[in-house]
Amino acid sequence: MTVFNASRLLGKTVLITGASSGIGAATAVLFAKGGSNVILTARRADALQKVADQCTAAHKEAGLQHGGKFVTIQIDVSDRSQINGFLERIPVDLREIDILVNNAGYVVGVDKVGDLSLDNMEGMFATNVFGLIALTQLFIKEFKKRKTGHVINLGSIAGREAYAGGSIYCATKHAVNAFTGSLMRELVDTPIRVTEIQPGMVETEFSVIRFKGDQSAADKVYEGLQPLMAEDIAEEIVWAASRPPHVNLAEVFVLPVNQASATLNYRAPKL
Ligand SMILES: NC(=O)c1ccc[n+]([C@@H]2O[C@H](COP(=O)([O-])OP(=O)(O)OC[C@H]3O[C@@H](n4cnc5c(N)ncnc54)[C@H](OP(=O)(O)O)[C@@H]3O)[C@@H](O)[C@H]2O)c1
Repeated sequence: MTVFNASRLLGKTVLITGASSGIGAATAVLFAKGGSNVILTARRADALQKVADQCTAAHKEAGLQHGGKFVTIQIDVSDRSQINGFLERIPVDLREIDILVNNAGYVVGVDKVGDLSLDNMEGMFATNVFGLIALTQLFIKEFKKRKTGHVINLGSIAGREAYAGGSIYCATKHAVNAFTGSLMRELVDTPIRVTEIQPGMVETEFSVIRFKGDQSAADKVYEGLQPLMAEDIAEEIVWAASRPPHVNLAEVFVLPVNQASATLNYRAPKL
C-alpha cells in the first residue's frame, strides 16, 4: 500500500491541452498510470499519437481495471472556430469530462518593449489566455449541471512576478492567474474545484520554442542547476486531482531547489 490514496483517479476522464510534449504529455501518462481515461489534444497529431501509445503502455503496466481509454484530438486552441465545434469531436463515451487541464501555452522571444512583435503578442494571448478561457467556458456549464469537475490551469512563476524580456508572456500568465482566481470565487458555492499550477524552470521544449529552435540558447537557461522535469509538474497536477473532494489545492507554486524567483537562482560554478 502507498502512503497516499490515488483511487480517486480511477475511471475519471481527463482532457489535457498541449498533451503532445512536455508537461502535458507527462501528465497524460501519469493519469493513465492512475487508471484514468485521457483525451489528449494539441496541434501535432503524430506527437499526440506517440504520447497516447505511452499512455496505453503505462496503463497496461499498472494493471488497473479502470480507465484505459486514450483518444487524441488535433486542435489549435488559439483558433476560436476550432473550439466552437470541439465538444462534438469528443467520442460520446468520453464526453463527461471530470478534469480539464488547460496546459497549452508558450513564449517566444526575449524582446523588450519597443522591439516586440505584435504577431507574437497576438499568438501568445490567443493560446495562453483566450484559448484557456474559451475551453474553460465550454466545459464549465456542464460541470455546473453535473455538480462536479476540476479545472487545472497552468500558470507560471511569470504569473506571480514580471521580469525584463518577458513582458508579453508575463502578461499572459498574470491574466491566467486573474482568470483562475475569479473562476474559483465564482464557484465557491459548488463542488467544482479550481487549481492553478505555477512552475518555475521546467526543462521541456518550452525554451527551444522561446529561442526559435536554438538548442544551445535553450540549454543555457538550465546550465549549472537542476531544473524541474515535466514529470515533476505532472505529479503536482495529478496530486491536486487526487485530493478528497472537499480539498481544493488553489495554487501550487513549484520551483527547482536552486531557483528562488524568476531572476534569482544559484548555478554551480564550472570546474
Ligand atoms: N517549461 C517551463 O519552464 C514552464 C514554466 C512555467 C509554466 N509553464 C507552462 O506550462 C505549459 C506547458 O509547457 P511545457 O513546458 O510543457 O512546454 P512544451 O513542451 O513546449 O509544451 C507546450 C504544449 O502546448 C501545445 N500548444 C502550443 N500552442 C498550442 C495551440 N495553439 N493549440 C494547442 N496546443 C498548443 C504544444 O503542442 P503542439 O505544438 O503540438 O500544438 C505542446 O504540447 C505552458 O502553459 C507553459 O507556459 C512552463
